[in-house]
Amino acid sequence: MRSETLMKAARAARTRAYAPYSKFLVGAALLTEDGAIFTGVNIENASYGMTVCAERTAIWNAVNAGYRKFKGIAVAADCSPPPSPCGACRQVLWELAGDIEVAMGNLEKEIISIPLLELLAMPFGSERWGENPDNIDMEINEALWRLPVFFNPVGYVINGYKAPQTIPANYKELLSTIIIDPEMEEGLYRLDEEEKIIVIAHLHEAGGYKLKDKRCGRDNEVYGVFACRAPLRPNAIAQSVVDLVSVDKNVLTVKGLDLINGTPVLDIKTDYRNK
Ligand code: THU
Repeated sequence: MRSETLMKAARAARTRAYAPYSKFLVGAALLTEDGAIFTGVNIENASYGMTVCAERTAIWNAVNAGYRKFKGIAVAADCSPPPSPCGACRQVLWELAGDIEVAMGNLEKEIISIPLLELLAMPFGSERWGENPDNIDMEINEALWRLPVFFNPVGYVINGYKAPQTIPANYKELLSTIIIDPEMEEGLYRLDEEEKIIVIAHLHEAGGYKLKDKRCGRDNEVYGVFACRAPLRPNAIAQSVVDLVSVDKNVLTVKGLDLINGTPVLDIKTDYRNK
């Protein structure tokens, strides 16, 4: 993955910062060893000292999701020179991520990249008193399946449907575009041999659900959420089978997509019945 991608994720994360006091929005994106990205933002508090920085929320997010090996972090803010992690963040990053690459960027494409150990010379760590903290042996127990699952979108939808209610009734006849992350273009190799493909997406505007309810797509009859295609579900995941019209580099044209403009796409796969 190019470091530019990580910086883009940090800039995107920045839009979620909660910084009503300083008005200084910061976003961070941390890359795990196996290529997942975890983002973080600064989260301030009226009791100012309770504020945490973007870098720490990013790494806490990742550790909380079960990740312990990292390659690099990008930090983005609207300032020149670009933001540099505070001492507390350097210390926390060192303990949890080791000597990763730290890329500091702003919105004008100015980027400075330095290994963490250059930002934190002679670091303090638990090896100073001889024993590293034990990784707690996680007991395999039946509750582990309850842990939240995390995904990084691979692309997004472009069409004229602004809201779920405005998807036209004849959507099956209409074209949409799916843009795949240019870094993942190779993954589309031989997709053009398919007539129909499955698009898995995150219904980013859906919230809340009822296990049993009247379903407007089913003549207002009562169905369980697992017995219908309702967009309001325990996990806002959509699966759409569409006609593949064309593949041009990282741009797919498809017919019959029932997703709105801007929907993050999680995966593209083929229909097992075809192959
Ligand atoms: N901040 C960060 O999130 N990361 C940094 O690297 C520097 C500072 C935040 C903390 C606070 O919300 C605001 O920036 C001003 O200090």
